[in-house]
Amino acid sequence: MTQIIITRKIFDEAIALLDEAGLDYWHNEDDTPLSLPEMQVRVAEAESIISLLTDRIDAQVMNAAPHLKIIANVAVGYDNIDVAAATERGIIVTNTPGAMTECTADLAFVLILATARHIVAADAFMRAGKFEGWELFQPHLGVELVGKTLGIVGMGRIGTAVARRAALGFQMNVLYTASSPKPEAEQAFGVKHVSFSDLLRQSDFISVHTPLTPQTRHLFTIDEFRQMKPSAIFINTARGPIVKEADLVQALAQGLIAGAGLDVYEEEPIAHPGLAERPNVVMVPHIGSATTETRRRMAVMAAQNVVSVLSGKRPLNPVNRL
Ligand code: DGY
Repeated sequence: MTQIIITRKIFDEAIALLDEAGLDYWHNEDDTPLSLPEMQVRVAEAESIISLLTDRIDAQVMNAAPHLKIIANVAVGYDNIDVAAATERGIIVTNTPGAMTECTADLAFVLILATARHIVAADAFMRAGKFEGWELFQPHLGVELVGKTLGIVGMGRIGTAVARRAALGFQMNVLYTASSPKPEAEQAFGVKHVSFSDLLRQSDFISVHTPLTPQTRHLFTIDEFRQMKPSAIFINTARGPIVKEADLVQALAQGLIAGAGLDVYEEEPIAHPGLAERPNVVMVPHIGSATTETRRRMAVMAAQNVVSVLSGKRPLNPVNRL
């Protein structure tokens, strides 16, 4: 019996932990997503699945896995897993909180700076041999960050790490929305808890750091973009479906906002038609956690959760209560 199904290739350090614990696993070395029928066959005897966010782990998978005890997602987000279905079946779901906090906050700032200073367009201009010398009215005049207002939607670990960079590193004013006020962040970085509509109206930059839930799906539609400043820049490193991407394209085309920096997309891996054509959009392919150190930490955390549960202990990072 194969105890653990590892749906894609993961780091050797994570595999080593399973080996040390004497656990038996099947590792999808092809590193291509398993189809539903393949997954159903693979999980038939499994006690654990180590999944990536490209795997849809829903009731159809769980029903094919009568011995399943834990689904360990190699991601902090777990919207690829039907957590309610897992809870009903007594299956623990774990994630990797903290592993990618700084890395994702860095990427949010990469996107803030790249959009504010037209870095991608300027790089293309240079490579095309179009630079003919310094001009006062250079083609890529941007905006500076100091003194500007950053609105953070979701003040968890990553939102807080972005706030720290903004307030301490770039002397920005920081507003935030969250399910509850964060007095520690307010004290440490002078950030201010405001209503969502105040954040939309007052921010020069808005950066999204909230999980994808039924409540946050399409949190940003044309109505929200209409409330933003026409000079505002919208950044999303959280989850694509938080934004109605067709509306974002429309908002950019109509000049309702000035630009966008995107790491995530509503229908990954596809970006909505029209996005790529806009010069005021910087797009990267879901690389928020893409440093070797972070990805290794994520894989190791997932393996640690599996080892813990399969040796009869409590999971280290449960997302459901059983
Ligand atoms: C996560 O961990 O949820 C990230 O989106 C992976 O990059």
